[in-house]
Amino acid sequence: MRAVLCKAYGSIDDLVVEEVGSAPLEAGQVRLKVAACGVNFPDVLITQGKYQFKPEPPFSPGGEVAGTVVEVASDVTEFAVGDPVIATTTWGGFAEEIVTTPDRLLRRPQTMDEVTAAGFAITYGTSYHALVQRAAIQPGETLLVLGASGGVGVAAIQIAKALGAKVIAAASTAEKLAVAQAQGADEVVNYAEEGFRDRLKEITVGRGVDVVYDPVGGDLLQPSLRSMAWNGRYLVVGFASGEIPQVPANLTLLKGCAVVGVFWGQFRRNEPDVDAANFKALFDLHAAGKIKPLVSETYPLEKARDALAALSARSVTGKLVLKV
Ligand SMILES: NC(=O)c1ccc[n+]([C@@H]2O[C@H](COP(=O)([O-])OP(=O)(O)OC[C@H]3O[C@@H](n4cnc5c(N)ncnc54)[C@H](OP(=O)(O)O)[C@@H]3O)[C@@H](O)[C@H]2O)c1
Repeated sequence: MRAVLCKAYGSIDDLVVEEVGSAPLEAGQVRLKVAACGVNFPDVLITQGKYQFKPEPPFSPGGEVAGTVVEVASDVTEFAVGDPVIATTTWGGFAEEIVTTPDRLLRRPQTMDEVTAAGFAITYGTSYHALVQRAAIQPGETLLVLGASGGVGVAAIQIAKALGAKVIAAASTAEKLAVAQAQGADEVVNYAEEGFRDRLKEITVGRGVDVVYDPVGGDLLQPSLRSMAWNGRYLVVGFASGEIPQVPANLTLLKGCAVVGVFWGQFRRNEPDVDAANFKALFDLHAAGKIKPLVSETYPLEKARDALAALSARSVTGKLVLKV
């Protein structure tokens, strides 16, 4: 089978596509034929050796795939050959097949095509968990989404609108804000320009925002935290800017707000039943047309490097998906 390989930690430019042997199937495992694989920021980080998981090279990046079960170990009863599935794999997905375990699989609904499904689990799983379990967002509350045209940002906009919140989308260019508005954002703010806080004050009529969804970090934390309403929740989702900001503790006191960490991967290991209920709700919202994943571009497996380069260059909106 063909696979994208990281042979040593370093640059995404050093990734190669090679023919490799199939991994043997052990007890408790299933083999999937991969149809498509979502491209995510952690795929860049894991290649550079900067992610929280550090697999031994050579390995393939690729944390989420859509595919079909083609082989099951004799002790696996939950899935059968031919089942259409989504798998969250952390790595290994940029390949024609992958061996994984049933706890990493979701049944792919018939209403969802393979490309959409490949880019769905991480972004929508994260944003739903963040907004529902971590922020307990309520209808009518105001949500500020940073990095709003990116993968998790788009999912956050759509889910929050489906849950009845008012959404302010924030991003760095007019083009990205147009994308966020097309996803349902009520208001948009460009944080690369002057007056970010003033605009938020104006939009919320001085009240501030109830929830901040922050996958970017860096310099955006302070002005966003200062723009919170009383009883607000600041969701720490990621650090796409490359900079982990410090939280001034006095601001949380003055605002009467909470700073809340979001770690979807650990949440689903700790609370698999809640995660399963989240995906049931998400698949229902998708079937009802209330959330519509935005796959802005697809690439063939051979062009995985180009997809990761586009993500690193901050030029992507929505999701990129590799067609395998
Ligand atoms: N906590 C969790 O469980 C969890 C789950 C999934 C993802 N994440 C994290 O969330 C973050 C965003 O993921 P994503 O898939 O939405 O990524 P993405 O599609 O690349 O979007 C990230 C956004 O961050 C902004 N950004 C600011 N500085 C950037 C830089 N130097 N390079 C790239 N982007 C930059 C960009 O928007 P502007 O240009 O508009 O600023 C971009 O749209 C990542 O750090 C990821 O690891 C966390």
